[in-house]
Amino acid sequence: MAFETITVETRGHVGLITLDRPEALNALNKQLVGELATAIQRFEDDPAVGAMVLTGSEKAFAAGADIKEMAEKTYPTAMIEDFIAHDWEAVGKARKPVIAAVSGYALGGGCEIAMSCDIILASETARFGLPEITLGVIPGAGGTQRLVRAVGKAKAMEMILSGRFMNAEEAERAGLVSRIIPAGELVDEAVKVGEKIADMSLPAVMLAKSCVDRAFETTLAEGMTFERAVFYSLFATEDQKEGMAAFVEKRQARFRDR
Ligand code: CAA
Repeated sequence: MAFETITVETRGHVGLITLDRPEALNALNKQLVGELATAIQRFEDDPAVGAMVLTGSEKAFAAGADIKEMAEKTYPTAMIEDFIAHDWEAVGKARKPVIAAVSGYALGGGCEIAMSCDIILASETARFGLPEITLGVIPGAGGTQRLVRAVGKAKAMEMILSGRFMNAEEAERAGLVSRIIPAGELVDEAVKVGEKIADMSLPAVMLAKSCVDRAFETTLAEGMTFERAVFYSLFATEDQKEGMAAFVEKRQARFRDR
């Protein structure tokens, strides 16, 4: 399937997806979200890919769900269609790590998709916000849940109730963003982080990701029990033998994802 609203390429072992609907600041319409889900699945299925980067343009990562497409929906059509489910969940459900490289606007659904990535790297131009309240609705793709977990209640509540945007500096300070990178270097740096991750043992990476995600879903005691079981399970991999032998032999480990 040829894509019309995104571009997709592979750089080394990193799958790079670029949202590409410039006329609408990458607003997330049904077609774009469908193409994004397909691209994510292809990289999930590709054994040569160890991590993904999701980015937009310099002006907008994505300015939210497509308001023009949503404007005429009614309660029954929205509810029955369940339009903020399925493809919208593809990024959050990916088992391989996804890094968001955010420049410009990441608003509404755009902010929510960024927050469903595992790491957010931002350029100094990034603006994060959940302005759905200004449209008479609320965030519908995880914003009220993920923003609170990322930045705490006071900041999340202010942003969600008033529609205030956060700039890159504030987002980094608040813990939403991992690092700020100059705009011109952002995607290259995100790919570099992706390459670094892709060099690791894929089973260890996937399980580490799933342990961190578990921290948002469970108690500390249950999370620790889960982590310990996963830790022991990795001793069943060849990569554990290779990683520890390489350390002892003072050489670079060559992981084979098994
Ligand atoms: N949906 C549809 N079209 C959008 C859009 C969106 N979310 N955001 C921008 N566009 C379109 C504009 O309509 C405009 O198209 P036309 O040229 O055909 O008029 C084009 O993109 C350029 O946008 P602007 O002229 O508005 O650009 P600007 O630089 O003046 O402003 C902006 C930029 C502040 C991001 C402004 O476009 C804006 O406020 N966009 C909407 C942001 C928003 O409310 N997002 C939340 C959507 S709801 C949601 O996401 C629900 C959910 O939880 C899943």
